[in-house]
Amino acid sequence: MNETLDPSNWDEMRQLGHLMVDDMISYLSTIRDQPVWRPIPDEVKETFNTSIPHNPTNSLAVYDDFKKNILPYNKGNVHPRFFAFVQGTGTPMGVFAEMLAAAMNPNLAIGEHAAMYVEGQVLDWFKEFLGYPADASGILLSGGSMANFTALNVARNNILPENIRKSGLHAVEKQLVAYCSTESHSCIQKSIEALGIGTDNLRKIPVNESFQIDVTALKKQIQIDKENNLLPFCIIGNAGTVNTGAIDPLDELLAICKSEKIWFHVDGAFGALAKVVPTLSAALKPIEEADSVAFDLHKWMYMPYEAGCVLIKNKKAHRDTFALNPSYLHTDPGGLAGGPEPFNNFGIELSRGFKALKVWMSIKELGSLAYIRMIEKNCVQCQYLGSLISSHPPLQLMTPVSMNIVCYRFQFPTDDLTVQNNKNKKLLLELQNQGIAAPSSTILNGHFVIRVANVNQRSQQIDFDILVRESLRIGQDISNNLL
Ligand SMILES: Cc1ncc(COP(=O)(O)O)c(C=O)c1O
Repeated sequence: MNETLDPSNWDEMRQLGHLMVDDMISYLSTIRDQPVWRPIPDEVKETFNTSIPHNPTNSLAVYDDFKKNILPYNKGNVHPRFFAFVQGTGTPMGVFAEMLAAAMNPNLAIGEHAAMYVEGQVLDWFKEFLGYPADASGILLSGGSMANFTALNVARNNILPENIRKSGLHAVEKQLVAYCSTESHSCIQKSIEALGIGTDNLRKIPVNESFQIDVTALKKQIQIDKENNLLPFCIIGNAGTVNTGAIDPLDELLAICKSEKIWFHVDGAFGALAKVVPTLSAALKPIEEADSVAFDLHKWMYMPYEAGCVLIKNKKAHRDTFALNPSYLHTDPGGLAGGPEPFNNFGIELSRGFKALKVWMSIKELGSLAYIRMIEKNCVQCQYLGSLISSHPPLQLMTPVSMNIVCYRFQFPTDDLTVQNNKNKKLLLELQNQGIAAPSSTILNGHFVIRVANVNQRSQQIDFDILVRESLRIGQDISNNLL
């Protein structure tokens, strides 16, 4: 009857908490001395195969288990030489804010409580940061995938708001068609599939040699689709493609959308934030006029996972896509059910955690200028890495460096592409397995390339020197059949 899950001895719990904070500060402050990544031994994997524990374990023992079997086998994106996928590092303040948010444990669906205002302020800050209209709506989400999905949901429903919600896509007489480039992230296709539009109706337009959408081909495709009585409804522009960091000609896409009356969405998962960097701001300026923009805060804002954001210019269209008002979620002028407009009106999720706190505390702690400097630093570091690679054959730069992504390979003395690709795969694995650095890979025009995506606030110039030096060393060892 009176049992709770709180500790019987709060002082012991406090001590454990202090120990955890001390350990995590040591972990982060010495992370440079650790391998970026290490393989997980089978006996450690075995510990994850035991069945559900029925009886209690001492909390210190649980923590020891974490330190022994989980912490050493971290993914590595807290390390200064982690460059895989597009994954940010986080910050110590972000860690603490996550703890504070969990202790408060509010649910940001609806209500009159401080967290709702914090998220509102954070959204306003990002509108200001990106030069997006102040009266736009927005919501924090788990990441870029959900942010893109949410925006595309609004774009789709905006065609016939009430009817699509009521009758589904039957309400639209013509088949909807969306456009993106062949380089767009897979979450765009997933979203189009989940929205019932179907992959066949997502036109993946070819790209030019700089991996930007071919605007002439796009225009032609739109005309063909219109002639075939289809309904072009959305163009998705890339502000930084995942493979190479290419920025589509957003100004041209915006102009097409305006003249064709098509929704213009920008997937700026990482690249949208580069708008604050003077050298990139012109190419990204059209974001200010986009109907919607999706971006991540766990990438180039260095927040701990997870946090993404979508901003939608037409607040009414956003609300009309998601708002419902069941009796158990009524809002009132006063009391707990008062407060700002429920976030529940702007997304699929009802229960939502206090992600906004880490964003709010981190930006307050560091100031927006620090983020501008960091984003710029990551781009400059990639230019540096690109020039190092170009001046160190047999390393070979595989694309011009765009923003914060560098794709390269070791040119092995063979004309056989499969052998070339396999040897470069081996090189990448060795970089990872030896704990030196963690780039990832992609395929560009059939070539396997080692791909560095830099959203790392901890990396320094020396980390790129090490990456190049070790890529050369391992490449030579592979060439000499030593590995
Ligand atoms: C261009 C682009 N769009 C969307 C996403 C998906 O974002 P998330 O992984 O946060 O869901 C990514 C992830 O790297 C990305 O690079």
